[in-house]
Amino acid sequence: MIETPYYLIDKAKLTRNMERIAHVREKSGAKALLALKCFATWSVFDLMRDYMDGTTSSSLFEVRLGRERFGKETHAYSVAYGDNEIDEVVSHADKIIFNSISQLERFADKAAGIARGLRLNPQVSSSSFDLADPARPFSRLGEWDVPKVERVMDRINGFMIHNNCENKDFGLFDRILGEIEERFGALIARVDWVSLGGGIHFTGDDYPVDAFSARLRAFSDRYGVQIYLEPGEASITKSTTLEVTVLDTLYNGKNLAIVDSSIEAHMLDLLIYRETAKVLPNEGSHSYMICGTSCLAGDVFGEFRFAEELKVGDRISFQDAAGYTMVKKNWFNGVKMPAIAIRELDGSVRTVREFTYADYEQSLS
Ligand SMILES: Cc1ncc(COP(=O)(O)O)c(C=O)c1O
Repeated sequence: MIETPYYLIDKAKLTRNMERIAHVREKSGAKALLALKCFATWSVFDLMRDYMDGTTSSSLFEVRLGRERFGKETHAYSVAYGDNEIDEVVSHADKIIFNSISQLERFADKAAGIARGLRLNPQVSSSSFDLADPARPFSRLGEWDVPKVERVMDRINGFMIHNNCENKDFGLFDRILGEIEERFGALIARVDWVSLGGGIHFTGDDYPVDAFSARLRAFSDRYGVQIYLEPGEASITKSTTLEVTVLDTLYNGKNLAIVDSSIEAHMLDLLIYRETAKVLPNEGSHSYMICGTSCLAGDVFGEFRFAEELKVGDRISFQDAAGYTMVKKNWFNGVKMPAIAIRELDGSVRTVREFTYADYEQSLS
């Protein structure tokens, strides 16, 4: 048995998402780039590479990882690049997308050897969560003023628009795309490619993938553009668990169980977005609040039901633990960092990375 805590990536479950992505690529003609900000565990890129067209990035290090570990088509994007990194970014990328006209003007010449694009902000999104809403008031994420963009059209041949957030609703996607067309249609007709970003949960069980694919194909035919999708969460959803062990139990008005992990260190989005982890089947007569081992008072994974009383040494699996977890894990409190393990297609499990005291020490100085 592998010592906890560890993330366990199940290749069979990952393949299910990959097959849906491949289906949409084939039906729609769109290309799919893995968004490394969400998931960058390169040990499973050998599998993902066969189903996806490449990667997209948020920084110099991500674009380099995409080029070196995934290969295929590599897109560079960042909210802002520094003078000291632009040459290296360009050396790793097939396309570079600038977040603002001023970044485009600053670096257009340095990026003259690769395709250049600009991020547009349509000022509408599917997100109601202010923190994650790219279209929030005064957003710095992309340009929205059409006359200003028209003045730089000679320096770009593509656009990126990311304004979907955890959007499971095809009707909503369709409506928002319609608004984008109304606002930016004339500009889009003048470029060769458009990336529609991530945040579209099209690998979900009930998502109408054929209607989605038809909508993408119609868009690309109407404007004569190659569409790109940048699925992060949709690529890896439900493929991975975080495996933990109960270290202690106590009763403080509720049954509490403390496990050898922490939301702040290992599943940070639960804390940021005030969500709870998922445990299956979450049934039985024993209810427990499962708590992390950091000092943060609110380090709570959630309240779940179990068939039996929990005792020290019991193991718990938190579901759906691939997206924005391994890329955000940190050494807060010096809590042991989860190892990374892979369940291969033949069912065997191998550990691909373990973190030790030396890693903790070396992360500081
Ligand atoms: C530009 C861009 N592309 C892709 C993504 C991936 O989004 P998701 O993981 O929700 O699919 C994000 C997420 O923030 C993003 O900002």
